[in-house]
Amino acid sequence: MKHQSNVERLEDVRVHDWYRFVFAYSDKLVEGLFEEFGVSADDLVLDPFVGTGTTALVAKRHGVDAIGVDTSPASVLSARAKTTWDVDLSTFRRRREELLRKVEPAFREITTGGNRRLDQFGEASAESVSLDQYNFSVPEKTPKGWLSEAPRRKMQVLRHHVAAFPDDAVTDLFRLAMIAILPEDVGNVRFGPEATRDRTAEGDRDVKHILSRKLDRIESDLEELQQVMQNGEIDPGETEIIDGDARRIGETLPERSRLLESDRHVDGVDYVITSPPYPAEHDYTRNQRLELVWLGECDDNDDLQRIKRRNIRSHTKNIYVDDDEGERTDIRAIDRVDEIVERMETIIEEENVTHGFGQNYPRVIEEYFGGMQHHLEAVYDLLAPGGVAAYVVADSGSYWQVEVETAAILAEIAADRVGFADPEVRLWRNVAATTADYDEIEENVLLLRKPDRPPEA
Ligand SMILES: C[S@@+](CC[C@H](N)C(=O)[O-])C[C@H]1O[C@@H](n2cnc3c(N)ncnc32)[C@H](O)[C@@H]1O
Repeated sequence: MKHQSNVERLEDVRVHDWYRFVFAYSDKLVEGLFEEFGVSADDLVLDPFVGTGTTALVAKRHGVDAIGVDTSPASVLSARAKTTWDVDLSTFRRRREELLRKVEPAFREITTGGNRRLDQFGEASAESVSLDQYNFSVPEKTPKGWLSEAPRRKMQVLRHHVAAFPDDAVTDLFRLAMIAILPEDVGNVRFGPEATRDRTAEGDRDVKHILSRKLDRIESDLEELQQVMQNGEIDPGETEIIDGDARRIGETLPERSRLLESDRHVDGVDYVITSPPYPAEHDYTRNQRLELVWLGECDDNDDLQRIKRRNIRSHTKNIYVDDDEGERTDIRAIDRVDEIVERMETIIEEENVTHGFGQNYPRVIEEYFGGMQHHLEAVYDLLAPGGVAAYVVADSGSYWQVEVETAAILAEIAADRVGFADPEVRLWRNVAATTADYDEIEENVLLLRKPDRPPEA
């Protein structure tokens, strides 16, 4: 029997904050949907664009099983680490101590003396350290200026020692701490929401202090969680985080998900709660670039292309010549999509737009909605009869202020082409527009229902 009554006890356990990114959505919104839907411990929840794991974590706290899917290795690591609560804390403490002991002299050396040896500084330091064991030329692909020289070298030292740990769930917590502190406190990056270099933040950092604080947070949250689990106050749901493309989950989840195959969930997924990308110029791989580089997932341009190609097409920097989801779904047969594409094509013609990105705006619209149609078809098949899907998406005016009513168009595709019943678009909030001349854009929750199984004759 799973309990829900003590979930409140965990209010102070801020696992969500172990690592967040600028595109994460509010756990309160997810909590509200759980309550409204009456999600119960027998249910199975899916977040096909799980990002940093918000939905999966809420589900776990409520004692509900959940599957999360994402294309970003940084997000997969984050969602997985945040939802793995049975790690051995004594191993964590032992490795933490070892790690801090190993990095400390190197960090001091970096701050005080470049490649000089500490024992050359006289009696002030009894310990001598050589930095020769570290390869400061990797990872290579850090965007220029996003890390100052001394913090970069310290992070390279940290990475070196984390890489020497066994590859297991405890080490995932150190990897997560490492990537979380990069954009939060160590790098010179500003998110507005796009990541840009912050010249005002340049300089050295006390990486040991920043890292210790992050590890303290993780440790004390896990202590608390393990205690309430031991007391039987909470029986967390099982969570599976899968590295995959939400447009292909119709094939990948039946192959790779244990939860979907388990006897507990024979009817399939009961609820989808998610926030997919929407057509705007948000480049997820750029916003997580430091994290991806530091995880070794972005050693060259091919790595980056591989991640980008699996992403739903939502901006002009991930459109490829062989993309054909718009065509394969004949997406322009949807009047609203056709109107948007036509308006953009007219602007391109009338204004004689020849620059690459602008020319790609109409293609983003076609490929986005074509890709989302494939995704919605897969979700429909995975949902149990009567299952509900909630999509949090914003409208967009990023492209020459041509209005794209994302939720309304997805509702039309879901109902007319996929078979969902009674789609509902509900305003969640108005948010300040970031890239257009609009003052505000709508962020909506799109609700889709799969019809119940017809009563047996
Ligand atoms: C708006 S974010 C989700 C944020 C999440 N709700 C959270 O709270 O962290 C969208 C996510 O979709 C992922 N993504 C983009 N294309 C994808 C695809 N085709 N399949 C799965 N995930 C994808 C991105 O990597 C990103 O993490």
